[in-house]
Amino acid sequence: MKNDLLLRAARGEKTERIPVWLMRQAGRILPGYRKLREKVKDFKELVKTPTLACEATLEPVQALDVDAAIIFSDILVVPEAMGLDYEMLESKGPMFEKTIQSKKDIDGLRIGSIENWNYVVEAIKLTKSELNGKVPLIGFAGSPWTIFAYMTEGKGSKTFSIAKRMLYSEPEMAHALLDKITQTTIKYLKDQVNAGAQIVQLFDSWGGILSPESYEEFSLPYIAKICDELNGLVPVIAFPKGAFFSAKEIAKLNCSVIGIDWTVNPSEARTLFGGKSLQGNLDPCVLYAEPSVIRSKTHNMIEQFGTKGYIANLGHGVYPDIPVDNVRHFVECVKQYPVK
Ligand code: CP3
Repeated sequence: MKNDLLLRAARGEKTERIPVWLMRQAGRILPGYRKLREKVKDFKELVKTPTLACEATLEPVQALDVDAAIIFSDILVVPEAMGLDYEMLESKGPMFEKTIQSKKDIDGLRIGSIENWNYVVEAIKLTKSELNGKVPLIGFAGSPWTIFAYMTEGKGSKTFSIAKRMLYSEPEMAHALLDKITQTTIKYLKDQVNAGAQIVQLFDSWGGILSPESYEEFSLPYIAKICDELNGLVPVIAFPKGAFFSAKEIAKLNCSVIGIDWTVNPSEARTLFGGKSLQGNLDPCVLYAEPSVIRSKTHNMIEQFGTKGYIANLGHGVYPDIPVDNVRHFVECVKQYPVK
C-alpha cells in the first residue's frame, strides 16, 4: 500500500499528513463523469457495468488527488437486491415503482445475496487491481433506517411522513423491515470486504429527521448490529447525519470512525467521541467561496479537530455545481496543513 494514511487515521494513529477525501467525490462535479454518463442509457447502467463503475471510481483519485477511492455505486443497490426495483430519474432522483406498506410486502422481500450484487463485487475487484495500492478503497451502504425511508416512501421526501407514520403506527412491522434490511446489508458489506474494500462507510443520511427517541429505537440499534459484524474485519465509518442529538448513544457504537456534519463544532465532537477517530465536517457550501476563505475555514477546522485520528472531509456530499477547482483547492489546503 503506497498511501495508507486513511487507514492509519481510522485506527486512531497520528499521520505525517492529514488524509482527505470527499463524500460523493465521483459524481457530477467531474467532467470525466459527465462524459461517461453520456455514453450510457442511465445512471444504473454505470453502476451495473464494472469497467465503467471502475473508471468513475478512479477519476477523482486522478483529478482531485484525494487519499481514498470510494466505489462508484449507490445505497439503493440494497433495496433492489431485496427485490424492490427503482429508477434513477434525470434531475429528480430515485423512484420506486412499488413501495413497502404491509406485512405481506415485507414477506415478499428477499434477504439479498451475492448474485444480486455481483456487479458491485466485480467492480471492487477490478478497481482494487487498477489502484494497485495507490490509495485505499472504501466500500459503503446506507443505514437500515435510510434504506427503510426510501423503500416505504418510494422516493425522496421533505417530511418522510410515510416512513415515520409506520414507525409510530406499526412499530412491529417497521422493526421487521429494518431487520430484513440489516441482514441484507451485513451480507452486502461482507461481500464488499471480501472483494477488497479496505474500510466501509455507513450513510445514515436521514437519521436527522427522527426524534432522539425514535432514532435510538429505529436507527441506531441496526447501525450497531452492522458495526458489530463488520468492525472486526475492517474499520467502519458511521455517518449519522443530523443525528448528533443522540451523540451520547452514538459514542457507544463499535465503529472506528464517526463522520461529523457541519452542525457540530469539531472540538465539541472530540469531547463527545473521545476514543474514536473523526471525519468531516466542512459545510460543502464553503466551497462556493473564494480560495482564501476555503483555506482559512479548512485550516481552522483542522486546528479544532486536531491532527491525530482525523480524516478531513466535508460534512455531507459535495454538491454537483461546486467548481472542481475549488474542490481541488480544498484538498490542497488539507495537504498543506503542517502536522507537528
Ligand atoms: O463518489 C461517491 O461518493 C460514490 C458514489 C455514491 C453515489 N451515491 C453515486 C450517485 C455514493 C456514496 C452515494 C450514496 C448515496 N446515494 C446516498 C448517501 C449519501 C448522501 O448524499 O446522503 C444517498 C442518500 C443516495 C441516494 C441517491 N442517489 C439520491 C437521492 C440520488 C439523486 C440525487 C443526486 O444526488 O443526484 C442519487 C443519484 C446518484 N448517486 C448520483 C451519483 C453520482 C447522480 C446520478 C447522475 O445524475 O448521474
